[in-house]
Amino acid sequence: MKKISINVNGEDYNLEVDIRESLLDVLRNKLFLTGVKRGCSVGECGACTVLIDNVPIDSCIYLAVWADKKKIETIEGIAKNGRLSNVQQAYIDEGAIQCGFCTPGLVLTTTSLVRSGKNYTDEEIKREISGHLCRCTGYQKIFMATKKSLLQKK
Ligand code: FES
Ligand code: FES
Repeated sequence: MKKISINVNGEDYNLEVDIRESLLDVLRNKLFLTGVKRGCSVGECGACTVLIDNVPIDSCIYLAVWADKKKIETIEGIAKNGRLSNVQQAYIDEGAIQCGFCTPGLVLTTTSLVRSGKNYTDEEIKREISGHLCRCTGYQKIFMATKKSLLQKK
């Protein structure tokens, strides 16, 4: 076991974790942040994506001990004061959500792209979101929601 200090969605936590424990398990089982989804468990589907210091990371293959002293964001921290972020609203407006299982991870990846302040071509957008598998939407609406989010630049 090892002690770690992490900041999750603006709150500081001091936790004791098994050195083999994934960040996904700690977030879901110790902090009850169930917006972080478990899909494949092997870094292929993107459902477990969280932001670590604003970088999208597959939390299923990221050890909790590696997160020590880092800033983590999950989907639970994206809406502020009960108000959806522009990215969340864009996903709704574009109809990019069906079952919603892939949505938290995609919203977080899109949020990190928006924060980067860079301009992305359509091909670059597709590459950036290619780490996320969606069984429902056919991806076009997700692409449109991501593009709309980037155009809003907020
Ligand atoms: S559950 Fe982590 S990438 Fe699929
Ligand atoms: S909306 Fe169902 S997996 Fe993407």
